[in-house]
Amino acid sequence: MTDEHPPQETPAAAWAVRVAADLEAVDVHRPVLEEAGLLGVVEDVEGAVLYFPEPVADLPWEGRWDPVPERDWHAAWREGVTPITVGQLTIAPPWLGAPDATTLVLEPGQAFGTGHHETTAGCLAALQELELAGRSVLDVGCGSGVLALAAARLGADPVVACDVDPLATAATREAATTNGVTLTVHEGDVAAVPPPTGGFAVVVANLDTATLSAQAPALVDALAEGGTLVASGVSLERVDEATAALDAAGLPVLVRRGAQWAVLIGRRPVAAPAPHQRSTHRRSRRPRPSG
Ligand SMILES: C[S@@+](CC[C@H](N)C(=O)[O-])C[C@H]1O[C@@H](n2cnc3c(N)ncnc32)[C@H](O)[C@@H]1O
Repeated sequence: MTDEHPPQETPAAAWAVRVAADLEAVDVHRPVLEEAGLLGVVEDVEGAVLYFPEPVADLPWEGRWDPVPERDWHAAWREGVTPITVGQLTIAPPWLGAPDATTLVLEPGQAFGTGHHETTAGCLAALQELELAGRSVLDVGCGSGVLALAAARLGADPVVACDVDPLATAATREAATTNGVTLTVHEGDVAAVPPPTGGFAVVVANLDTATLSAQAPALVDALAEGGTLVASGVSLERVDEATAALDAAGLPVLVRRGAQWAVLIGRRPVAAPAPHQRSTHRRSRRPRPSG
């Protein structure tokens, strides 16, 4: 007699479909996907993997359905999540890292922004090229809080974040606690943020082209004179639209093109003093050579 059982096929605990869509596109359809039972989404290099309890007939994208054999589909999902390093900062899920001076721990799947998206990575790289120590930073559209947390890790102070989505502001607050970072988080757009005297030294805004363009005057207004805007969420096809809106708001930008997305970086000009404020000191004239 043996107490061994014959091998049994494990019923699928979930179904995974790999689609050629980035997280931003997935987010656009999220309400419909959640109604269809969406369990979770993982970004990968070709797009995204979506998990459902059963295959779904009318997805917005084509894709091959595979049963996830593990009883705990969540474990399978976790296996697909990897840390990402951009410059000196690493973003890791809680089971693959612990917060320290160069590591940020973010719970993936709570809100857009594990650092893997090209727009987020582009903003992370651009932030690291700026002098942030002791300077004020505003993250508009904070999502998971990744960029605000990164700014704080790079020494920025104070760091303020805002997002119109209450799930995002909650995720950002939670991530700040996890990472031991001090942030102020506001629910709403840039208008919901009381600016520090003189404005923010740096505003980072990873939004989308339409929102960025509509918010361009408010974003520029939030900047201190001489302050820097780092913006993304702009696909290569729509760069002209975003740069025109920022230009019209008084901020000419440099465009850094990635594979599919661009990062726009601009410095708010310092206003020339009004004529009556100009220095009344006469410049000392150089003595003319005689003879
Ligand atoms: C592309 S995600 C970026 C998330 C994160 N900052 C990152 O870089 O990974 C854009 C975020 O902007 C938020 N958002 C959209 N419109 C906004 C607005 N007008 N003001 C503030 N946040 C906005 C969305 O809710 C979303 O969380």
